[in-house]
Amino acid sequence: MAKVKTAYFCQNCGAQSAQWKGQCSACKEWNTLVEETISPASEAPVIGTTTLQTKKKAQKLDEINFETETRIDTRDQEFNRVLGGGLVPGSVILLGGEPGIGKSTLLLQIALSLGKKVLYVSGEESEKQIKLRADRIQSNQQNCYVLAETKTDLIGLQIESVQPDLIIVDSVQTLQSPKLESASGTVSQIRECTAELTYYAKATGTPLILVGHITKDGQLAGPKLLEHMVDTVLQFEGDRNYVYRILRALKNRFGSTAELGIYEMLSGGLREVTNPSELLLSNYEEPLSGVAVAATLEGQRPLMIEIQALVSTAVYGTPQRSATGFNSKRLNMLLAVLEKKVGFKLGTKDVFLNITGGIHIDDPAIDLGVVMAVLSSNADKPLPASICFAAEVGLAGEIRSVQSIDRRIAEAEKLGFKAIFVASNASIDDKAHQIRIIRVSKIEEVVAKIFSKN
Ligand code: TYD
Ligand code: MG
Repeated sequence: MAKVKTAYFCQNCGAQSAQWKGQCSACKEWNTLVEETISPASEAPVIGTTTLQTKKKAQKLDEINFETETRIDTRDQEFNRVLGGGLVPGSVILLGGEPGIGKSTLLLQIALSLGKKVLYVSGEESEKQIKLRADRIQSNQQNCYVLAETKTDLIGLQIESVQPDLIIVDSVQTLQSPKLESASGTVSQIRECTAELTYYAKATGTPLILVGHITKDGQLAGPKLLEHMVDTVLQFEGDRNYVYRILRALKNRFGSTAELGIYEMLSGGLREVTNPSELLLSNYEEPLSGVAVAATLEGQRPLMIEIQALVSTAVYGTPQRSATGFNSKRLNMLLAVLEKKVGFKLGTKDVFLNITGGIHIDDPAIDLGVVMAVLSSNADKPLPASICFAAEVGLAGEIRSVQSIDRRIAEAEKLGFKAIFVASNASIDDKAHQIRIIRVSKIEEVVAKIFSKN
């Protein structure tokens, strides 16, 4: 019997090494090398051999029809937007996310609403479990085929008999190719199974969606190589304590990565949130101190978010600073600006900041909102409920303009705000807006305008 050959594979980057090492010499990660058997892989594709033999032909470039590239509407507007306008035939999409965030729910919903033949392969749940989930979502279940299987050759047989218009595989870590002896979830298996499925997807123009697990530190599990093999990498994220889920594209060969989809997890599945601003803003009976509203942009979409601050006298020697959903270094910088420009005694105060809804914002346009929430809590004076902010604060306390200001102003106006504070040098198409636009150039000016009145 031939000797079984083994080699060590880095579980992070997929690099191969003849001996075990503590550190991978390619990606410099520690403790990632695992021994796997190498068996000679045959050339023939495992999946859809017969279909491929009839479909795969060399084509003349000038005969390739563009119309076949039209995108498939998934009937989920958020999903379509993140993909850049729908599914591209033959594209391979990897969907990552923490356990329990709703990956399987999202994909089953898409499978049910697509209105075309879909094969949903699950290596994690039985057909009955999938049926239970589908009943919860309550959609038309006619066109959806389910298969609980992990072996790629058996999956291939089903793909050939069903001839689906979309293949969903949950998850790539559970797949096993008969060509290799190593266990499922290892680098070589993930690579091989993805290659087999991708080959079929590209050759037949069938879109393929793979679910990928992520590791403790939020990286997609398995080799980085997997991300290179697919066309689009999507991430489904959110705080499990909140109902909101955000879908973003980390890589997209067919569209922008700036777009974002927002969903709400309800008892009957995920619901698309088409007007996120309304959900993120609370309606208080009377204005509260420490609350400010800022206009931010997520992708191309304007979003009104609520910032809450709590400023209290520090009990211990070192004051505490804590920010949820906002960069704490940036918070410290803004507090330093406040100390210098408006005499805020930061050395003796604890400052807590929270962006409501469990979302994380990196947009500097919410700076002015953050500053005003902090000042409002410090003075214990509520800001008028009808105003909002869209400007960056510089180190000298100057108010700086931000990109796409017209879109932010339009969103504020749509939600019924009466006034918006912007930078004095912002280039705005004044005629396009009804809302009162208050131009300011220094932080002191904003403070005087708002707090001197009440
Ligand atoms: P799931 O799709 O199984 O997550 P993943 O595949 O990413 O691991 O989602 C599971 C969670 O979603 C679970 O905590 C229950 C919740 N859920 C709902 O709230 N409503 C629903 O209709 C469904 C199907 C699940
Ligand atoms: Mg799942």
